[in-house]
Amino acid sequence: MEFAKWFGITFLERSAEELDAAFAEPARLAELLDAVAALAKDDPDAFFAQQYLLSRIYGIHTQLPSGDTPENSTVLHAVTRRLEQDTIVAEDGYLDEELISSSPEDPEQFVPWLKSVVRQHTVFKHPYYHQFLRNEATEEDFRKFVLQESSVDARFDDLLATMQVGTDGATKMEIANNFWDEMGNGDPAQVHTVLFQRIIEHFGITDEELKENLSAEALLGGNLAVMICRYRNLFYEAVGHLAVAEWLAPDRFSQVLHGWERLGLPDDGITYHRLHIGIDAHHASGWFANVVKPMAGDAAARRAITRGAFWRLNSSGRYLDRILTHA
Ligand SMILES: [Fe+2]
Ligand SMILES: [Fe+2]
Repeated sequence: MEFAKWFGITFLERSAEELDAAFAEPARLAELLDAVAALAKDDPDAFFAQQYLLSRIYGIHTQLPSGDTPENSTVLHAVTRRLEQDTIVAEDGYLDEELISSSPEDPEQFVPWLKSVVRQHTVFKHPYYHQFLRNEATEEDFRKFVLQESSVDARFDDLLATMQVGTDGATKMEIANNFWDEMGNGDPAQVHTVLFQRIIEHFGITDEELKENLSAEALLGGNLAVMICRYRNLFYEAVGHLAVAEWLAPDRFSQVLHGWERLGLPDDGITYHRLHIGIDAHHASGWFANVVKPMAGDAAARRAITRGAFWRLNSSGRYLDRILTHA
């Protein structure tokens, strides 16, 4: 496979200097970027490779290294930029422009409008949660679910931390409150990523599986979250994305909890899921009232918030459809 030739494991294990030296010749760099761009074609293997590569690159930027990494490489930056632009173009292709431009200008009406369009989306009360996890899933199915969910849940605190950079006032305070909840309100044993890690351990999910067994759709979900939190010019997209994620979470976690208790799975998971039913309802209402609404008077912000909300809805819809058909 062409992918393996270019992006064999050593590609991301060189130092920045080594990587930049290897592609110092413009023709060779152009060839590399063409290979990256070729991953944007409509093909499941290419899509997987594209999202896998981006997730490995984001790993370099979001995890503490154990040795040399190409984090500062200009070649890596060029590759990343190509992957991100192609990911954005693909995701924008799923947007319903007519629906987005019909958002009300009045900030008072914007939040009710956004909630109503979310309610009409296929992810709202998706059968994967409402039927499958709730009533049918086996312990093995829950194992798969937890594995795929790790692309966001296992690092949610870092996503919030990067999202808050550059904000102030009520927005920073909302993120701070959310972050402190993630930190278990100061109790190390109640830190959400720690609780999630215990679920990972219960299922005996290895680091190797977390790295190698995520679906393309799960990788995309994680990549979108990192991308919008990492770049200040996608901040409003992050606002819309987080609004949808927090607003949908309590109902989803209720279904998970129901299935979890049905199977008699361990208490740690119950704690994690029950916790979020209450907390995320609180996060969503605070976020809508104190962040989304005040920003929604500005046309560009409103559009970007809606765009981010739909990136989340549409990518989540494809993820859930996929995990349900492969269940
Ligand atoms: Fe959480
Ligand atoms: Fe939350």
